[in-house]
Amino acid sequence: MAEFGQAFTSQMVVSSFENDQWSTADVKPIGPFSFHPATHVLHYSSTCFEGLKAYRWVDGSIHLFRHHDNISRLRASAASLCLPVPPAELIEEAIINAVKAVTDEIPDLPGALYIRPTLIGTELNIGAAGRGSKNALLYVITSPVGDYFSGGVRPLKLLIDDENMRSTPKFGQVKTGGNYAASLGSVTSARAEYQADQVLFCPGGQVQETGAANFMILRGNDLITKKLDGSILPGITRNSILKLGADMGYQVHEIDFTVDELLNWLPDSEAFLSGTAAVLSPVGSVVYQGVGHTVGNGEVGERSMQLKQALTSIQHGKQEDRWHWTSLI
Ligand code: PLP
Ligand code: COI
Repeated sequence: MAEFGQAFTSQMVVSSFENDQWSTADVKPIGPFSFHPATHVLHYSSTCFEGLKAYRWVDGSIHLFRHHDNISRLRASAASLCLPVPPAELIEEAIINAVKAVTDEIPDLPGALYIRPTLIGTELNIGAAGRGSKNALLYVITSPVGDYFSGGVRPLKLLIDDENMRSTPKFGQVKTGGNYAASLGSVTSARAEYQADQVLFCPGGQVQETGAANFMILRGNDLITKKLDGSILPGITRNSILKLGADMGYQVHEIDFTVDELLNWLPDSEAFLSGTAAVLSPVGSVVYQGVGHTVGNGEVGERSMQLKQALTSIQHGKQEDRWHWTSLI
């Protein structure tokens, strides 16, 4: 299978907002858009997106995971960017149309169809006129995916970056391209200089999240992650894992914690990333100020894998879905 995010299905869905009206969510063959050079998004980054997955269960049926939560988050991101906010029903229709158009292209488990709804500002306006783009384009593309990190399940290495921020304080919760652009330099140099898999952003010594996923610690009976305060993405996987963890008897702590506290915890902890793309990816070590620190015994954490199993067995239709997270389409 191609690297994550580099293969695309044959169809997409497009709906545009012009003259205060959304057009229908139409399926089209995937292909280039043509934009005037003055298009708002090209200048002012009026763009937000979502990432969710559809799974083909063993009986052949296709299921979305918590798509209503992605729809709510896209609408919240759109509002933060002063973009026209698409009605929830339109986004849902666009997602379902996009998946139904490519059912033959959805990989079998443990693969999935990664769905990328995207909203961009399309007004021709370089005036930064103290308001957002009047016009917008909502589109949904899809991509057959396997693991996010190459090499299967393995202990990841994170670089702790306490200098750079991936977003301004209250914009981390917005799933907008600018936050990813802000993290690229740090992630690129972490890869080149330390062979790190990702960066854990800890501005001012406060642990936040990585460039593409939330971060969690399992320590004794405690499941610890940063509290939601606007500075990090409110991950849907994060929320699912906290619920499953509580169900499995862990004490859940959504708290602020520092790099020093984290380093103290690491020798007798497990750590992992959570996200739609990352699912639950174990962390084996961190590098801070040039020094490596092992997480637990440095291997894939057994209890983290039990949590992952609890999550994926619901996503894959192998366990009762008592939270009604999956939707047959
Ligand atoms: N944090 C960032 C920066 C992300 O890009 C993602 C991925 O979507 C997440 C967290 C996890 O969010 P979710 O679990 O909703 O995919
Ligand atoms: C996701 O997990 O959906 C994300 O948006 C991460 C992305 C960088 C692939």
